[in-house]
Amino acid sequence: MAASRGEFSSRFGFVMAAAGSAVGLGNIWGFPTQAASNGGAAFLLVYLVLAFTLAYPALMAELIIGRHAHANATRALRSLSSRPLVSRFGAFTGIFGLVVASLILSFYAIVAGWMIAFGLGSLAQLLGIESVASWSTGFSLPRNLLFMLLFMALTIGIISEGVHRGIERWSERLMPALLITLLLLMAYVLTLDGAMQGLRVYLLPDFHRALSPDLIIAALGAAFFSLSLGVGTMLIYGSYLPDRENLPLVGGMVTLVDIFIAVCAGFLILPAMYVAMHNGVEIFSPSGSLLSEDTLIFTVLPELFATMGVPGALVSIVFFFLMSIAALTSSISMLEAPVAYAIEEHGIERRKAAWFIGGIIALVSAGILLDFGTLFGLVVSLTTRYSQPLLGIILCIYAGWVMQRNALLQELKQGNPRAEHGLFWKIWPWYVRVVCPAIILAIFTRSILG
Ligand code: PFF
Repeated sequence: MAASRGEFSSRFGFVMAAAGSAVGLGNIWGFPTQAASNGGAAFLLVYLVLAFTLAYPALMAELIIGRHAHANATRALRSLSSRPLVSRFGAFTGIFGLVVASLILSFYAIVAGWMIAFGLGSLAQLLGIESVASWSTGFSLPRNLLFMLLFMALTIGIISEGVHRGIERWSERLMPALLITLLLLMAYVLTLDGAMQGLRVYLLPDFHRALSPDLIIAALGAAFFSLSLGVGTMLIYGSYLPDRENLPLVGGMVTLVDIFIAVCAGFLILPAMYVAMHNGVEIFSPSGSLLSEDTLIFTVLPELFATMGVPGALVSIVFFFLMSIAALTSSISMLEAPVAYAIEEHGIERRKAAWFIGGIIALVSAGILLDFGTLFGLVVSLTTRYSQPLLGIILCIYAGWVMQRNALLQELKQGNPRAEHGLFWKIWPWYVRVVCPAIILAIFTRSILG
């Protein structure tokens, strides 16, 4: 069965693919801009704590359930229990997850399209083609539609190729490119005047703010979104892992890469904002608060690049190229969740499933674009603020309470015969049973009650 459903051929391939899913706009755009508007280092600190203590255990729940079943989320959760109700609720959770993954993709493709558009705009600027430059950086329905469709076509193209030739091969190419681009940009921006002030904001915590409930809610959302949790993408990637792999180890690597890239992106974006301020670009509104996240990326940074002349245009192309790659390695994982379901549960051929489901998602994106002001924010908060943590709780409960302890241990032992004596086995089972659901629930309730 494993051969017919596809499998990652190496540990490197898996870590690149899963880290590729995790590292995305959430890391390079969401994390630094949220850190900037939530007290800099205080946000960083809370984010780090939550990522290790909540997001990593939740990621492990998904990887273990997925690898155990070697199947899509719906089948995996359905097969964990022989009790009809629990089994049906598991299947329902799997389907809800893939609907959420598809909805996330529908807004993600719009933003990713903007990244490609801005990259192209900078190139046109450099070549002196003013009309193309201003068209691709101005907000218009045709521009939004065109670049969203282009991005969706790239995503569908990779997913059509399957696990090894599509997801793994492309992640192995794109992720190192992303890392190198990010480090080069970071090193360059840190040499500019004003960067040190940004660095100070990023690194000196205001502990007062670290305990504010709003900040904790925002950081939990960021950590869950960043590790692609709840919606079955990590579960499906786990299901393509060979049995010989040591799960806590590879899960740990994915978490570390994800956090590392987010933290690096902070070293790029916060200093860049203050460099922009140094060059006379507004980054605070007249009331003293920081400009909104999209203004920072789509107005402040381009204005900064514009103040830098020709090198600025080059930096801008590289920056938006980086954003587009990060988005692509994440979007493929979102599309894989419903596509794997369609293949395994309904016997649809991969290429057809990818184009059909990708097509529907593109239609939803187009719908969002038609009433952008109302729908965009709504879909973002419904999926990331509410559905992801809720699904995260259910997945922890399935791993902790429904999956039998013995099955858990056997799963871990396949990749590490001494798993029983390790630290992970001493802590994780009770942690994922009690601590994770309770804390996520507490933060979630608080965020709903406002
Ligand atoms: N982790 C991605 C990011 O940080 O941008 C977003 C994401 C990918 C969310 C895949 C959900 C998902 F299933």
